Order: sequence, then C-alpha cells, then structure tokens
Amino acid sequence: MAIEDEERPLRILFFPFLAPGHLIPAADMAALFAARGVRCTILTTPGNAAVIRSAVDRANDASRGAESARAIDIAVVPFPDVGLPPGVESGPALNSEADRDKFFQAIQLLREPFDRFLAENRTDAVVSDSFFDWSVDAAAEHGVPRLGFLGTSLFARACSDCTVRHNPVEAAPEDPDAPVLLPGLPHRVEMRRSQMMEPKKMPDRWAFLQRVNAADQRSYGEVFNSFHELEPDYLEHYTTTLGRRAWLVGPVAFASKDVATRGTDDALSPDADGCLRWLDTKPAGSVAYVSFGTLSRFSPPELRELARGLDLSGKNFVWVVGGADTEESEWMPDSFAELLARGERGLVIRGWAPQMLILNHAAVGGFVTHCGWNSTLEAVSAGVPMVTWPRYADQFYNEKLVVELLKVGVGVGSTDYATNLEARRVIGGDVVAEGIGRVMGDGEEAEAIRERARVLGEKARRAVEKGGSSYDDVGRLMDELMARRGLTNV
Ligand SMILES: *[C@@H]1O[C@H](CO)[C@@H](O)[C@H](O)[C@H]1NC(C)=O
Ligand SMILES: *[C@@H]1O[C@H](CO)[C@@H](O)[C@H](O)[C@H]1NC(C)=O
Repeated sequence: MAIEDEERPLRILFFPFLAPGHLIPAADMAALFAARGVRCTILTTPGNAAVIRSAVDRANDASRGAESARAIDIAVVPFPDVGLPPGVESGPALNSEADRDKFFQAIQLLREPFDRFLAENRTDAVVSDSFFDWSVDAAAEHGVPRLGFLGTSLFARACSDCTVRHNPVEAAPEDPDAPVLLPGLPHRVEMRRSQMMEPKKMPDRWAFLQRVNAADQRSYGEVFNSFHELEPDYLEHYTTTLGRRAWLVGPVAFASKDVATRGTDDALSPDADGCLRWLDTKPAGSVAYVSFGTLSRFSPPELRELARGLDLSGKNFVWVVGGADTEESEWMPDSFAELLARGERGLVIRGWAPQMLILNHAAVGGFVTHCGWNSTLEAVSAGVPMVTWPRYADQFYNEKLVVELLKVGVGVGSTDYATNLEARRVIGGDVVAEGIGRVMGDGEEAEAIRERARVLGEKARRAVEKGGSSYDDVGRLMDELMARRGLTNV
C-alpha cells in the first residue's frame, strides 16, 4: 500500500469559475503542475471546456516527450438545466437579471458532478475557484484539501479581507471624497470612499464577498497568480498576521513555452497582424498601448477625452477599442479620425488583440490599463510601466499596488467605483496625456519608473524558472500534499 502510494502520482482537480477570465489562468496553472508530473483534471461544462481546449492541447503538445510531464485532461460535465438558452454557460454571456439568477442557481447545482468526481476519483487536492464557496464543505466531506484561487493579487486579497473584517466604509463620512483607511495592513492604505464598494448599496454582493472570504479562510490554503518578489510584505501579512497559507506560483501565463503566441489561435486577425507589423516600424519604447480588458465600458464623453489625451500626448499609440457599443462617429473628434487616417502615429484595433505579443514588443513603452490582475501581471512580466485607470472590483487595489508600492506606474485619478457609466466623473484628455508623459517621457521620474518596471519584469521571469520562488512554491505544495497522503493513510 505504502509503496504503491508513493508511486501513484499526485492528482489535483482544478475547478475554475465559469468565465473566461477565471478559466484561462486555471488552465495555465494546471499546466504548471502537469509539467512537474501532477495528474491534473479540469472539471467544467461543454461551453467552458471549449474556451480552454486549445490552451490545454498546446500545453499537452509542449510537454509531450518531457520526462516527468503528464497530460492535463478536461472532465466535461453537462451544464445544469436551469432554463438558460443552450450554449449560455458563462458569466459574460448573461444579459438579464433573471438569467444571472439562473446562472447562480446552476453554479450551486455543479456540486453534484463535483461530488461525484471526488467520490469516484482518488484526489489529493482541489484547486477551487474562490467563487465556489460551497466547495470547501464538499471537498471536506471527501477528506480532500481545498485550495482557494481567486485570481487576484495578494495585496488586493489582503485589502478585501480587511474590508470584510472591519467594514471601514460604513465608519467613514458620507462624502464620496472622504478618505477611508484600511486598518492593519503592512502599509498605510488609504482609499477614497467613492473608490470602494458600498456594502449598503450592494448587500447581496457584500454577503457574497463575506462568504467567499470565510470559505477561503477555512480552506487548506490558497494559491495565487503572483510571485514572492512582487509583494513580499503581503505574503508575510497573509501568513503571519492572518494565519493563512498561501502558495505563489505565477505568473502562470509563463506556463506555456510559447508565451509570446498564447491566446492567438491559428492565424492572427488582420487587425492584430497589421498591428505587429506597424509596431516593427516604430522606435523602441515609443508606443503607448491602451486597452481596458474585455468587460470595461466607457461612455462617449470618456472615449472622446481619451482620444484627445492620446493626441495631446504626442506619443505613438495602439488603442484596443473592445466591444464599443457606441458608434465611433458619436464620440471620435474629427481631428482624431484624421490622425488615424494618416496611420503614422496611431492605430485602433477593434475587438481582440494579442496582448502578450504587443506588451512584449520593444516598441511599446507604456500601458494604459484598467488594472485587472490579468493585465497588470502581463505588464509586470513584460517590464512595461503603467498608466492606471481602474473602474471597479479589485482594480482600485491593484492600482495602489502598482502606483504606491511598486512605483511602476502613475494613476489618471480615477475616483469612481462603478459598473454604471453615468456614475463616473469624466477624466480630462490633458490628464491622460500627462500620465502618459510621466511614464514614457524624459526626466528622472519617468526613467526611474521604467527602470523599476524593467527590473520587476526580470524578477517575474526568474520566479518561474527552475530554482525561482514560484517554481519552488509549486514543489513545496506538491511535497506537502504527498506527505499528507502518507499521514492520512496510516
Ligand atoms: C486573461 O488573460 C487571458 C490570456 O491572455 C485571456 O484569454 C483572458 O480572457 C483574460 N482575462 C480577463 C478577465 O481579461
Ligand atoms: C474520474 O476521472 C476521469 C479522468 O479525469 C474522468 O474522465 C471521470 O469523469 C471522473 N469521474 C467522475 C465521476 O467524474
């Protein structure tokens, strides 16, 4: 028994939330463990399996022939029948409040196939999306350790733990510009009230955050798409002050050997291909890359000011205008349309852009970003300084980390936590231009920011290489799970 046990490889079940932004980092993380010989299975539904299928195939192809590597498999379970239209299986595809309710009902019903998997397959650990707060009890019933994964920074996680514990917003004056101090963190972290979620206005969401935090706290530990050198004080805070266990295994995007082409299925779109050729003609560090991820929406006045800011900055730029639901003629200044038509200084990409390829292109010298953790970590890995423009969720915390702690970016002064466009104060084009100048221009401040970003990019790369901190954390977790297996079997 003991010998057989030692020889049987570790087995980890990955259970990502049903949204692309959660699925892809989970698939990347599975690839990291699979490359080290862990038998990894990703449990998800048909529509969501399709999102990660090519990434998983690529990881499996890349590891074929490598001595210790194992292929990742995807265990596909039916999407629970809750009356959603066929094929609607993930967060971004939901259009109405009623559909969202059905979706969350479906999320609860996934417990059945999750239970069945654990009942039938001997599993050493589950890496569960933190959003599945119920999985902590389900895993415990099978005696399987649950590792939470939220896909954000350790810093943002610590901030959100602090707000759940102390609810500092409630105690602050009603004024939207009132400062809110987050107590008990390693640094003085002060937000504006308007940058934070209002528990009273979003009671359901607040209750959900509390449940998620409690479930992660009761878990065996948590895994992070981050690395020790990026936020050492918060790792210390998390483990020593909060007594929680954390393994930092990122940036997980480096998991695939073909980092540069990840996310690019087959041929690049004509826009994307043209963009890379256009970048080839530009001097090093001369282009500002502007993208706000897949979910951020800008109002026409915001778009108009952003266009004006790019023009005013005097820098070259590539701007990804994703999913814009307003006609360009409604907001684009004529002078900006003319600037684009000349094609020398700027390029607009409509729809999808190969972000890793762009950020890693020598011509790119700055990234105007909403600070989603995905994008932030990609910029860090590429050594590119940021102009930060957060909108909601963990983005305001990530901005603090980038601007105040790491000092690899400057903010445009975004003040409003809102998913709703009208609620936002419009940021002037001159402010945007100034931000771009402060990371891409001449002068000591800009040079210092760029140098710090470059150094951090090197640390990110080293972290995942053999002997690096993230590489070691993967090994440390594997050793612990293996040792635990020995203990529970005697
Ligand atoms: C994170 O990055 C991956 C790969 O670059 C992308 O496919 C995914 O949609 C991103 N997630 C979000 C939330 O933008
Ligand atoms: C057990 O694991 C295999 C391989 O990943 C999978 O195909 C199968 O569906 C799992 N069993 C259950 C009941 O989920």
